[in-house]
Amino acid sequence: MKRKLATIKPAKGKLGILIPGLGAVSTTFIAGVEAVRRGLAQPIGSLTQMGTIRLGKRTDQRSPLIRDFLPLANLDDLVFGGWDIYNDNCFQAATTAGVLDPKLLKAVKPLLASIKPMAAVFDPNYVKRINGPNVKQGASKWDLAQALRQDIRDFKKSSGAARLVMIWCGSTEAFRKPGAIHATLQSFEAALKSSHPDIAPSMIYAYAALQEKVPYANGAPNLSCDVPALLELSRKNETPICGKDFKTGQTLMKTILAPGLKARMLGVSGWFSTNILGNRDGEVLEDPESFKTKEESKLSVLDHILQPKLYPTLYRDLYHSVKINYYPPRGDNKEGWDNIDIFGWLGYPMQIKIDFLCRDSILAAPLVLDLVLLMDLAQRCSTLKGIGIQEWLSFYFKSPITPAGLYPEHDLFIQLMKLKNTLRHLKGEDMITHLGLEYYD
Ligand SMILES: NC(=O)c1ccc[n+]([C@@H]2O[C@H](COP(=O)([O-])OP(=O)(O)OC[C@H]3O[C@@H](n4cnc5c(N)ncnc54)[C@H](O)[C@@H]3O)[C@@H](O)[C@H]2O)c1
Repeated sequence: MKRKLATIKPAKGKLGILIPGLGAVSTTFIAGVEAVRRGLAQPIGSLTQMGTIRLGKRTDQRSPLIRDFLPLANLDDLVFGGWDIYNDNCFQAATTAGVLDPKLLKAVKPLLASIKPMAAVFDPNYVKRINGPNVKQGASKWDLAQALRQDIRDFKKSSGAARLVMIWCGSTEAFRKPGAIHATLQSFEAALKSSHPDIAPSMIYAYAALQEKVPYANGAPNLSCDVPALLELSRKNETPICGKDFKTGQTLMKTILAPGLKARMLGVSGWFSTNILGNRDGEVLEDPESFKTKEESKLSVLDHILQPKLYPTLYRDLYHSVKINYYPPRGDNKEGWDNIDIFGWLGYPMQIKIDFLCRDSILAAPLVLDLVLLMDLAQRCSTLKGIGIQEWLSFYFKSPITPAGLYPEHDLFIQLMKLKNTLRHLKGEDMITHLGLEYYD
């Protein structure tokens, strides 16, 4: 039976990427895109740039590149803007972050130096340990939201962008639970007007983006758009949202390994994870309130993958602990250790040790690229633009947003299948189920 095909508008004109938070991740992303455009490096780690998608039967030999299969924006068409509490342009911010080699940075300096942050909406109650001068003043949070909306319109005009996407790469905000003021769009707007303390800056950015019909992705673990009021706005304005918290270092490893252990019905009695990290993100996460947000995001992963309620013998008593220590000498080069206590046949114990010497922003930058391209695709697509949460992008997040009552899928391989099957679905291709009995007819 032929499915109704989605209509996808072509990716005509420039795509503007708006980023609250021009720190390590965002400058590594922008510098990387420019380096790839100039033929200086390859976009390693980006599914949209390097990945293929199998279509039809294994005997069909059809595996185009994802970027040839779908009308994604071309890297040459990306333009960048953003906000930060510091005045540094992106070249200075990238130099401070110290992620990329100075020689590479020099080669992309003209673009980086031209991106100067707009004044941020900031609240020191949400991000402690840092403070900067480039901050908007407004009579109320409502006024600040209007100022951000104006920034968005001004950027669209000055950059000549035909379309925009916003992605939060700002610091992790203090932990908050959604409350009554976040329950409906009406209560949220009233709370903006009364400058309610439970409206975080990242929510104001998300609100401004959605009101301007700009898709919004959240790379940090704080709530931001993950509250009913903003889900309502996303659907009302037919503007996609997704989040939260880029799935990079240690959690990436967890969501690769845990599904494997469960697949073999091996038990896990303990999973102890610790990190040392010396960048500004690490410094912000020293604050217990910001760490609590991160911890919640990191801890939920194993529970959902291992399903202790379904497998009490194997996972009921699992002790899971995650720590992050700020350790300046390492900068952005994080080291993450995992000690995993597992048990096998007849309950005999075994141990697995992981020592991942990773680079945080190097792992995050390609995710930013994929997300902005795929969110732009979603906004141009008749099937996806009106659904609100883009759960098919869970692949990129530690703590995927789901509608109320639906548990998130954390297993990286299920997430990848979901993402690729969504792309197949959009183009009227058959889902890949891996049944394969037809090969034996
Ligand atoms: N790198 C990774 O692997 C990774 C993985 C998951 C999540 N994240 C999250 O991504 C975010 C960015 O990480 P990073 O390493 O680039 O951090 P960073 O500290 O280098 O950059 C964050 C920037 O956001 C700015 N900022 C803070 N509040 C702001 C506001 N209200 N408006 C505008 N700017 C604001 C800060 O001044 C800073 O320059 C963090 O929340 C981090 O937890 C990173």
